Amino acid sequence: AAYGGVVPEIAARSHVEMIAEVTRRAMVEAGMGYDGLDGIAATAGPGLVGGVMVGLSFGKAAALARGLPLVAVNHLEGHALSARLGAEVAYPFLLLLVSGGHCQLLEVRGVGDMSRIGATIDDAAGEAFDKIAKALGLGYPGGPALERLAMQGDGSRIDLPRALLGRKDCDFSFSGLKTAAFRIAQTCETEQDKADLADAVQSAIARQLSDRSERALAAYAETHDHKLFVVAGGVAANKMIRATLQATAAKHGFDFLAPPMAFCTDNAAMIALAGAERLALGLTSDIDVVARPRWPLDEARALSDPSHRPGRKGAKA
Ligand code: KG4
Ligand code: ZN
Repeated sequence: AAYGGVVPEIAARSHVEMIAEVTRRAMVEAGMGYDGLDGIAATAGPGLVGGVMVGLSFGKAAALARGLPLVAVNHLEGHALSARLGAEVAYPFLLLLVSGGHCQLLEVRGVGDMSRIGATIDDAAGEAFDKIAKALGLGYPGGPALERLAMQGDGSRIDLPRALLGRKDCDFSFSGLKTAAFRIAQTCETEQDKADLADAVQSAIARQLSDRSERALAAYAETHDHKLFVVAGGVAANKMIRATLQATAAKHGFDFLAPPMAFCTDNAAMIALAGAERLALGLTSDIDVVARPRWPLDEARALSDPSHRPGRKGAKA
């Protein structure tokens, strides 16, 4: 919060300073020691690689020292499975993964078995929340702050761009919305103006998430009998977005599920769950597994899609 966002170098150093104590405290709170563990799961990417390297190295050290299997987990896979922390959820299901770094629709058939149906071609939804919140002078993280402000506003008179609406695919775009919101933020004079803009932004993001999901739901329903729509990731904590998606799911005859609030934003429980599911299938990792700043869930699709430029470091999502 003091820096208005994550400063990679400071974050990596904080990981080094905190990880032993955080791990010790988690074990105390869970009432268990290393003797009670079947394996060690550690996030191996994607994300700011300094922090990821610290966690993965710590996990490797613990696994080596205790003679336990190591499971390197994709952070996004943790989000993808997180609804299973709060309820019995059978595979397969259609997933909308909306976080600070990602916005994609996936068919989830099981751990390590997911196909990407659509993804953002520019910013992620959470990134849009955070950047627009910053332009409105709100604290970090911006999503929850913008949600609180939006409750006092009425954005119905503000016209924001409807990106990609009506397009046949299931991709997302938030950069036009962001630019328009920045421009309007500069003209806000009162707190009420800001609250109205916050409400308009939240509605526009919800509308786009719902519109893109609708296309995916319609296509998914043609090939699946078990109709379940799951939303996960930090943005899934937003009450208005949850309610909008629930209504969209109901309209198409789908059951709807979102993880309990505490498991929407980043948490270790979802990584433990993905690790446990992988361990049960014998999908363990070698001790020389490396941390990856980029690691798409559906690697083949991420590399083959011309509308999503891979960038210098490889395919992002
Ligand atoms: O999944 P997450 O904790 O971290 C990533 O993997 O990115 O997601 C964090 C993102 C941030 O962009 C944050 O602003 C957003 O989720 N977020 C929200 C809310 N709570 C968190 N966005 C909208 N409304 C919320 N209540
Ligand atoms: Zn996350």
